[in-house]
Amino acid sequence: MARRYGRGDVQFFERFGWVYDLATNPVPPVSLDPALVFAERPIDRVLDIAGGTGRATEPLLDTAEIVPVIDAASTMCQRARLHGRISIRGDVENFPVSNDAVDAVVIGDALHHLPTVSHFFDEAARVLAPGGVLLIEEIDPSTALGNLIAAGEDLMGFDSRFFTPERLCTILTDTGFEPRIAVSGVRYLVAGRVSVR
Ligand SMILES: C[S@@+](CC[C@H](N)C(=O)[O-])C[C@H]1O[C@@H](n2cnc3c(N)ncnc32)[C@H](O)[C@@H]1O
Repeated sequence: MARRYGRGDVQFFERFGWVYDLATNPVPPVSLDPALVFAERPIDRVLDIAGGTGRATEPLLDTAEIVPVIDAASTMCQRARLHGRISIRGDVENFPVSNDAVDAVVIGDALHHLPTVSHFFDEAARVLAPGGVLLIEEIDPSTALGNLIAAGEDLMGFDSRFFTPERLCTILTDTGFEPRIAVSGVRYLVAGRVSVR
């Protein structure tokens, strides 16, 4: 099914952002710690990209200094602000952040919505300081439940494209990151470290 909700399925989140928390609250965010230990620098400045209402980076609020949420859907940004988060409307292919500005970039449950991932990886590499990490939380389509979720998103008209953790590691290597699978399972976590230049 082709792009029923526009690029990145953003129109869907624009329309239903106000109930997003109701749907996701029963699922607690995964701990990002097993991936953060892969960083070769302290994690003080974090970007939550395609961050929606800020769910994925909630566990970092106690330890990191700055954790803004960037999302293309204004409804999701408004919800993030209601949770007390700094939220900026923006696109994954062009972060409003200077080079080497952050220690970690997090993208939770959103990579599969992007029509192309290469620009996103280039942007993540640009804004990450040497030794920083890109953290990707995703659904593994090779698991039974992951396959069911992928089929459900297709039925709903999403333009989703899911990656296995192994495939994501290959893409990360090809785009200059050093990858590691930090958590396996239906909901997995992969880290990509940018080398210390
Ligand atoms: C399933 S939600 C995930 C939100 C949040 N990261 C979480 O873990 O709950 C996917 C999000 O990706 C955002 N999104 C999709 N394409 C985008 C793009 N090109 N730039 C920025 N955000 C995008 C949507 O607006 C939506 O908020």
